[in-house]
This record gives sequence, structure tokens and C-alpha cells, in this order.
Amino acid sequence: MQETQINKTVVAPSILSANFSALAADCSRVLQAGADWLHFDVMDGIFVPNISFGLPVLKSLKKTVDAVYDVHLMIQYPHLYAAQFAAAGADYITFHLEAASPVGQTVDVIHEVGCKAGLVIKPATPVQAVFPYLDELEMVLIMTVEPGFGGQSFMEDQMQKISALQQERTRRGLSFRIEVDGGVNGDTAAVCRNAGADALVAGSAVFGAKDVTAAIAAIRG
Ligand code: DX5
Ligand code: ZN
Repeated sequence: MQETQINKTVVAPSILSANFSALAADCSRVLQAGADWLHFDVMDGIFVPNISFGLPVLKSLKKTVDAVYDVHLMIQYPHLYAAQFAAAGADYITFHLEAASPVGQTVDVIHEVGCKAGLVIKPATPVQAVFPYLDELEMVLIMTVEPGFGGQSFMEDQMQKISALQQERTRRGLSFRIEVDGGVNGDTAAVCRNAGADALVAGSAVFGAKDVTAAIAAIRG
């Protein structure tokens, strides 16, 4: 599937909030309603205190639903699984700075298997921790909740990280995307966009909406 233009705000519904008993239909529904990517949250029960879904689900979904798959790995050893997620259909593979894998090596593996690499930080991690890796990244993801569960409240105090990233991106002439994940809805999306975010993940606010088209349009702004 064709990549989205860099100047457009991407809306990436998190399928953690989808109806798993009708996953393909639910994903098609949000894409038809205007979603740009599908955000695929992988949890291993070790890096975060929850277990979601993994490789076989991505592989199966990719065969049925044509989309850009934005895979968010909340797992302890992402470098060991990046190649398998690429083979299963990932387009972006984003992993945590706080995980146990070596960051540079993990980015290299993701690129070698033909995916775009993203680095994500939890709320307690300072944004400067990602600065040494920015030259190598296609995306930085700022968590606005503690990773592990959908439906939590947006942490507005994380917005200063986005402004700092945007300044650093301009200063160094880079073009990585800045994505936000956690508690994003029509109201908090505006705060993220104003801070400089250009990719917005939303789970409950999209899959739980009565009018999904309106919810996605409100998030995009
Ligand atoms: C949290 C996940 C998020 C989550 C977002 O660990 O990474 O993608 O599903 O859900 P909402 O939008 O409901 O906060
Ligand atoms: Zn996520």
C-alpha cells in the first residue's frame, strides 16, 4: 500500500480496541472511514503487564486487509522478532528505548528487513534519550499513557517532548515523523497537532465511536 504524504497528519487506529471476533471487518470499517494506517500493539506480558496478539494475527490480517501496518512492539527483546514481524507484513516497526535490546542493532535489523524504524519512549523517559538515534529513524513515538492498556487518560505534560523533537528535527534537517499514542481523541489530538505531532494513534476514540468517520476527521483536524 502507498505511503501517506509527509505533510498530512496520519490517523492510525489502534486495533487493540477492535472487535477481535470480527477483526478484519472492523479494520476495513475504520479504513473506509478514513484511517491512514492500522496501529498494531504487540505486548509480551514482560515489558508491559498485559498480553495482546502477535505474529500469526498480523500475518492473517495482512492477507485480508490492505493497509500500512504500524507495529508497536511492547516486548522485551524486539531485535529478536523484528525480521518475523517484517515477514508477517509490518511496514513500520517501532520499539521501546527502555526494552532490553541494543537500540542501534535493532534499528539496523528493522532496516535490513525493509521496514521503517521507530523508537518509542515511555512517559518517564526524557526525550533527549532518543536524540543520538534520530539520524537513523523514520519515526519517534511519544507515549502519552503508560504502555500496556487502551482507554487511559492523556498525559498533556508529554507535549514538551514533541516541541523539543520538532525543534531538533528542524535544526538537523531531518524528516522523521512524530507520533503520539495514548488517550488521543478529538480534543487531545488538537493539543498534539499544535505541539507538532504528525501521526496520531487512537484506539478507543475510533473503535468506540458511534460515528467513526467523524471521530477520525476530528482527530485529523
Ligand atoms: C497502549 C497502546 C495504545 C493504546 C491506545 O499501550 O500502545 O496504542 O491501544 O489506546 P487509547 O487510544 O484507547 O488510549
Ligand atoms: Zn500503541
